Amino acid sequence: MPLYLDSHATTPLDPRVLEAMMPYLTDRFGNAASTTHSFGHEAAEAVARARAQVAAATGAQPDDVVFTSGATEALNLAIKGTAEAARGGGHIVTCVAEHPAVLDACARMERAGVRVTRLPIEPDGSLSPARVAAALEDDTFLAAIMQANNEIGTIHDIASIAALCAERGVPLLTDATQSAGKIPLRMEEWGVRMAALSAHKVYGPKGVGALIVRRSGRPRLRLTPQIDGGGHERGLRSGTLNVPGIVGLGAALEIAEAERETEAARLGALRDRLRARLFGELDALEENGTAPAKLAHNLNVAFHFVDSAALLNAVPQVAVSTGSACSSAEPEPSHVILALGHGEEHARCSVRFGLHRFTTPEDIEQAASLVIAAVRELRGHSGLYGAT
Ligand SMILES: Cc1ncc(COP(=O)(O)O)c(C=O)c1O
Repeated sequence: MPLYLDSHATTPLDPRVLEAMMPYLTDRFGNAASTTHSFGHEAAEAVARARAQVAAATGAQPDDVVFTSGATEALNLAIKGTAEAARGGGHIVTCVAEHPAVLDACARMERAGVRVTRLPIEPDGSLSPARVAAALEDDTFLAAIMQANNEIGTIHDIASIAALCAERGVPLLTDATQSAGKIPLRMEEWGVRMAALSAHKVYGPKGVGALIVRRSGRPRLRLTPQIDGGGHERGLRSGTLNVPGIVGLGAALEIAEAERETEAARLGALRDRLRARLFGELDALEENGTAPAKLAHNLNVAFHFVDSAALLNAVPQVAVSTGSACSSAEPEPSHVILALGHGEEHARCSVRFGLHRFTTPEDIEQAASLVIAAVRELRGHSGLYGAT
């Protein structure tokens, strides 16, 4: 089996999470909305437990948690729901390096009459809180800024951004999909009004996530549901609850929180080792996202004079991803790498490594050796490498 180093795309399911889910995939199959018998009650109790686990992991209250099919749905609910409640006008502040779930939802609202400011990032991938504050206008009804970037791993100072937004009475939505369970998130303490996350990025199952919505507080947050039906999730997201998935999300976040610090230290050391080997044994490399605040398991490197797609083909034993997002038939250069100020060439030679809970020191040595050998081989065939 290839070495899996693409944990920003998805993470392996932790066996402990599967174990927690198993009863709800088998004999505890009740509908959490069934109030007339014990099958429904035990499903509802499991959902309540998961709600408390999600709230504990994000520094919010259990009643704030709205379960969804994942972060994409959660972000769409937050952005379209607030835009609709703002009645088609107003202003959103976001950032060019956000995930397409944010950027595309904002673009759709823009076509419906909302003004959208897309803030640039610095060449190191950071975003200054003051820049966010300066972009807020009198009719800004939402700021949407991710906590950690899914390509370059840079972490934004959400506590400061939330405080500055609160001063202007603007609710802050943070996309915590890559950061939940990996770095602290204290929604209440920091004044973050909404956060989106997804189970499959934190060793849980695919197809389940949450939007955490702190509706109380000032200004009052108005959100229009995007899926109507039986009025589940306080009317914000109708549809029979995915009980096994929700149990998995709760368990996954609880485990991640309990192991967060030791795991970040372990992964940070492995990532540093990978970086040291690549940069020590190859020349013409550049790291993407050099801001000091960075996820411990992320490394994004431009291998100059090597096409990243060719590199990935040359090392089928290592599962990593390129600086191109294959969102369509034509791979587009990554909008995040371009936002750092680089050109398409740079994006097309960039590779993202994402370490995970089951990555071992041996995996890192093996991956480094394979990638180094492949880069040397490919550069040997390149007329450009060594020509200058
Ligand atoms: C930062 C970020 N936001 C949102 C998403 C979408 O998450 P989901 O797969 O749960 O829809 C992803 C997944 O790639 C992500 O990395």
